[in-house]
Amino acid sequence: MPCLFTLAALVVVLGQTYAQTSVTVEAASLLQQIDGFGVSQAFGRAAEFRDLLSGDPQQQGLDYLFNATTGAGLTIIRNRIGSGTTDSDSILPNSPGGPSVAANYTFDDDDRGQVWFSQQAMKYGVKIIYADAWSAPGFMKTNNNENNGGYLCGTPGHTCSSGDWRQAYADFLVQYVKYYNARGIPITQLGFLNEPDYVTSYSSMQSGANEASSFIPILYDTLEKNGLNNVSLTCCDAMGWNSQKSITQGLVSAGMEKYLKYITSHMYSSDPNSVIPTNLKTWQTEAADLQSRWCATWYSGGGQCEGFTWANKIHNGLANANLSAYIYWQGVEVNQFQASSYLVASDGETLTPSGRLWAFAMWSRFVRPGAYRVSTSGSVSSTGITAFKNTDGSVVVVFLNSGGSQQTVKVSFSDFTPAGAEAFVTDNTRSVAPVEAAFSDGTVTVSVPSRGMLTVKLAAAA
Ligand SMILES: *[C@@H]1O[C@H](CO)[C@@H](O)[C@H](O)[C@H]1NC(C)=O
Ligand SMILES: *[C@@H]1O[C@H](CO)[C@@H](O)[C@H](O)[C@H]1NC(C)=O
Ligand SMILES: *[C@@H]1O[C@H](CO)[C@@H](O)[C@H](O)[C@H]1NC(C)=O
Ligand SMILES: *[C@@H]1O[C@H](CO)[C@@H](O)[C@H](O)[C@H]1NC(C)=O
Repeated sequence: MPCLFTLAALVVVLGQTYAQTSVTVEAASLLQQIDGFGVSQAFGRAAEFRDLLSGDPQQQGLDYLFNATTGAGLTIIRNRIGSGTTDSDSILPNSPGGPSVAANYTFDDDDRGQVWFSQQAMKYGVKIIYADAWSAPGFMKTNNNENNGGYLCGTPGHTCSSGDWRQAYADFLVQYVKYYNARGIPITQLGFLNEPDYVTSYSSMQSGANEASSFIPILYDTLEKNGLNNVSLTCCDAMGWNSQKSITQGLVSAGMEKYLKYITSHMYSSDPNSVIPTNLKTWQTEAADLQSRWCATWYSGGGQCEGFTWANKIHNGLANANLSAYIYWQGVEVNQFQASSYLVASDGETLTPSGRLWAFAMWSRFVRPGAYRVSTSGSVSSTGITAFKNTDGSVVVVFLNSGGSQQTVKVSFSDFTPAGAEAFVTDNTRSVAPVEAAFSDGTVTVSVPSRGMLTVKLAAAA
């Protein structure tokens, strides 16, 4: 069998070649701060999660999303502030009659399951609860409908016979925050727009930078007046990165950076792959594969539903777009099995995690809120590298190998003394599986599988 002999020799040669690839993590060279990774269960998906799953399956679904030992360890949830015409979908379903008439708010203590979902997430230590409105209530808008776009009455160029509703909309949003805070669910981020560059048949409201800039200071002041300056404002959850980039330019020139804490965008019309010029943190707040049927695959040629495809998107966002957070659309869905717009599927009894869930896990389990991304030097063929320093002093290095062969990498550190290393691999046969990390003399050598990921976590020496 001469050909086996040849193959074995080749592996040895390759092994030696690749072992020379080395990377240095510059642990004191801090880049963007990381807030985390997350999902939403908006539009009643939270209630379905609670009501269509029970006992062990429900627990397992929550563990897949939030458990940092067995699941993705997600740390952010994004809730929708409803703008509908029923008590279950709005805290102000009916017009009080005019913008200066006292509003009769109502809260059903459920919010289509989002109160429950928030409480469950908090049990796992989730502290970042982003409340985002898709639209103002219809009666506050030029088209008198929460759906089909339309503008907030009173913003520049959009007058309504019913008056200027900007203060009323700010009061409405702040009241929503108060309902949650009063139930021990502190809202940390507040957004007043969702895809303002897209008109659709569900709740949607149009806005450019001008409209947003005429509202942001009002919302900021209203939070202040209510003692809620601990809530950070976001803008604008546009359809895609390029669109959010141009809106942000307008916000920056209008002086909005002093009121906002986050620039937020989705990735449907363009992925986050370049920096949006601003000194605010940037978040990718809604991402999904809306085209493919449900798939749990890690890698099979690069399709939109595959985990490895999403690992690349998250990597690009962190490495090239200065992202501090990456949030998928939905977490767990029951009896859907349609699009791949959620990370975990269930038939009501069993749960199926997707490759996309494990792509998130490769960062989210290890890179915890408050970490900073740090610089690295050196490069590895076909392999993306992001490195982070956690608040507990540990360092995490995440490798993503898009090539056809395994890469062996020796990792050294400057301004950091590691006490030991643990490594985990995800590829077509393994999901965040522990693997050996050869640790010696303050360096670690790891092997990153082809079309796979490896995350290595190094504890800091005491
Ligand atoms: C306030 O709203 C609640 C619930 O929607 C309703 O039952 C009640 O009659 C309203 N009160 C007033 C004064 O409109
Ligand atoms: C995460 O899963 C582990 C292992 O099943 C379990 O011991 C732990 O309690 C879970 N953590 C939380 C916060 O539920
Ligand atoms: C913000 O302050 C309010 C009012 O004191 C409190 O209820 C809420 O829990 C605080 N939120 C955060 C995120 O600390
Ligand atoms: C990255 O974002 C931070 C805010 O999180 C900002 O201070 C920094 O300037 C940004 N970096 C670049 C290269 O734009």
